[in-house]
Amino acid sequence: MSVKSFYKVFFLTLFATRGFAQNPLLIPETLSGVTLHLTLQNGTYSFFDDLSTPTMGVNGNILGPTLILDQGQEVSIQVTNQLEETTTIHWHGLHVAPENDGGPHTPIPPNTTWNPVFTVLDKAGTYWYHPHLHEKTNEHVSKGIAGMIIVREPEEAALALPRNYGVDDIPMVLQTKDFDEEGQIVVHSNQDDIVMVNATIDPVINLPAQVVRLRLLNGASQRAFHIGLSNNQPFFQIASDGGLLAAPVSMTRLLLAPGERAEILLDLGGMNGQSTYLMSYASELPNGIYGASSPGMAPVMTLDGYNPNPLNGTNFELLQIDVQEAQEEGVFEIPSALVSVSAWNEADATVTRNLLFTPASPGPNQLNGSFRINNQSFDLQVVNYTIPLGNTEIWEIRNQSGIAHPFHIHDVQFYILDRNGVQPPAHERGRKDVVLIRPMETVRFITKFENFSNEDIPYMYHCHLLTHEDDGMMGQFLVVDNTTSTAELRENVVRVYPNPVTDILTVQGISPSHVEIYDALGRLVDQKEMSTVLEEIDLSSLAAGVFYFHVFHDGQAQIFKVIKY
Ligand code: C2O
Ligand code: CU
Ligand code: CU
Repeated sequence: MSVKSFYKVFFLTLFATRGFAQNPLLIPETLSGVTLHLTLQNGTYSFFDDLSTPTMGVNGNILGPTLILDQGQEVSIQVTNQLEETTTIHWHGLHVAPENDGGPHTPIPPNTTWNPVFTVLDKAGTYWYHPHLHEKTNEHVSKGIAGMIIVREPEEAALALPRNYGVDDIPMVLQTKDFDEEGQIVVHSNQDDIVMVNATIDPVINLPAQVVRLRLLNGASQRAFHIGLSNNQPFFQIASDGGLLAAPVSMTRLLLAPGERAEILLDLGGMNGQSTYLMSYASELPNGIYGASSPGMAPVMTLDGYNPNPLNGTNFELLQIDVQEAQEEGVFEIPSALVSVSAWNEADATVTRNLLFTPASPGPNQLNGSFRINNQSFDLQVVNYTIPLGNTEIWEIRNQSGIAHPFHIHDVQFYILDRNGVQPPAHERGRKDVVLIRPMETVRFITKFENFSNEDIPYMYHCHLLTHEDDGMMGQFLVVDNTTSTAELRENVVRVYPNPVTDILTVQGISPSHVEIYDALGRLVDQKEMSTVLEEIDLSSLAAGVFYFHVFHDGQAQIFKVIKY
C-alpha cells in the first residue's frame, strides 16, 4: 500500500473511531507593534508522523504569525523574502493604498525586503495575508504561506465578546491539501483529500465551558466548507469578512467559500467534560460548489481528479472540542446587539459595472478549462477599469458557468444588495470582500472607492479559487484622482476600452457627451447619450468587425477605431 493510501485508510478509520491519536490544534504566535518583521522562508513540516514535507512559511516552517493591529495605528511591515523565488504578500481585506496592497505589481525578489507603511483604517475583524504573484498564488499558498490578521478597535473592545487569543478567541485557518506518496504537497490538484486546521491534521482543542469565539478563515485553494456542530447546536455568526454584524445571527450551518472569513460564537456553557465536533456538512452542499458531490451544477460536468475523494459530498470533522471547566473571567452570554452597520445608499451610485463569468470552453468539460471575466483573461498590461476616486458604484456580477466562484475585490469592503434580485440573509448584510456567486446567479453589491489613488498601480478583482485566479480569472482597476486635474482631463480623458472587445465596451469621457458608432462602411449603427463620465455600451448584438466611435463633447468629436470580435 502506498503511503498516501495508507494515510487515507488511516484517516478514514480515524473518522469512524473518534478520539484516537488527536493532535493539539496549533495556535500561531502573534505579532503586534509598530514595526513587524515577516520572513518568508522554505522549511519542512511533519504533517504525518514519519514524513517530512517541504513547505513555505512566514517566520517558521508553515503558515505565519497572526498580526494584531490596532485601528488608527501606523504600521511598518518589513517583509523579507528568503525563498529562492519571487513572490508578493497581499493584505487581504485591508483598505490600503495600491502600492501597499501586495498584489502582482509589487513583487518581492529573493533576498530583498519590501516595506509597506500604512495606517490601519479597517474595522475590527479578521483579515489575512497571503502571496499574490500572478500564476504562483496557488503554489505559494498551498505550500504553506498564509497568516491571519486581527484588527482591534474601541467599538469592538466595548462589547462583551471573548478576545483572549488562543484561550477563548481561536484563529482557525481551514485548508485541504493533496500530498503525493513522498509527502510532498501537490499544487493545482483536485485531489485535496487531507483536511487541516492551522496546519494540524485531525486537531483537538480544549475550550472552556463558556462562550468562545472562533475566527474562521477558508484558506483552501478551492474547497468550500459547510460549517456546523456535531450535536446540531446553533451557533452565532458575529462578523463577516470586513467586521462585526449588527447583531449575532443564530444558525446551524454556515457556508464558507475560499477567501471568506466569519467569526462565530459557540456557547459551551454547561458542557464541561463533554466533547463536540466542528464539522463540514458537505453532504448538504448543492452541486455546483467545489466540495459537493459534484463540482458542476450538472453531474455531467466533471472535474479531472475530483472523484473519488472522501471529502466530496460527505460530512467530515474539522475540529474536536473537549470542553473544560469555565474560567472566572469568561463571557457567558451571547450579546443581543453588536454595532451599527450602514451600507451605502443605492441612489448615490453613479456607475453600474457589469461583470460576466463564462467558461473559456463551454460544455460539459468546462470545469477543466479556465474561466473568464467579460470574456477576457487576466493581462498584467491591461487595466480593465479606471475608477474615479470617491465613486460609489454598483457591481453586477453574473455567473454564466457551471461552478460557483468566490468573487473578491481588493481595496474595498462591499455590501451585497441582492442575489438574483432578493436581499441576502442577515449574516450576509455586513461588510464583505468575497462573495460566492453560484452557477446562473447574479449578485449585485455596492461599494465606495475612497482614500487611495494611484495612476500606475492597479488593484485586483478575481475569483478566489486559486486555480481559477492563476488561470486568469482576474482583472484589475486603477483608482484615479480626477478632482485635481480637470484641465488635463479635458484634453485627453476620453478612453474607449477594452479594444478589441467582445461584449461590453467602456467609454470613459466627459459628461455630458454623445457617442455615435459607425461601421466600416461609414453607416451609423448606434448612438448613445452619456450622462456620466463612464458608460458601458453593450455591443453583443453587433456583428464582428471594425467600428468607429465618435465621442462628441462641445461640438468636437474624438474618433476611436474599435475591433469587435
Ligand atoms: Cu485573497 Cu486578491 O486575494
Ligand atoms: Cu485580497
Ligand atoms: Cu472561479
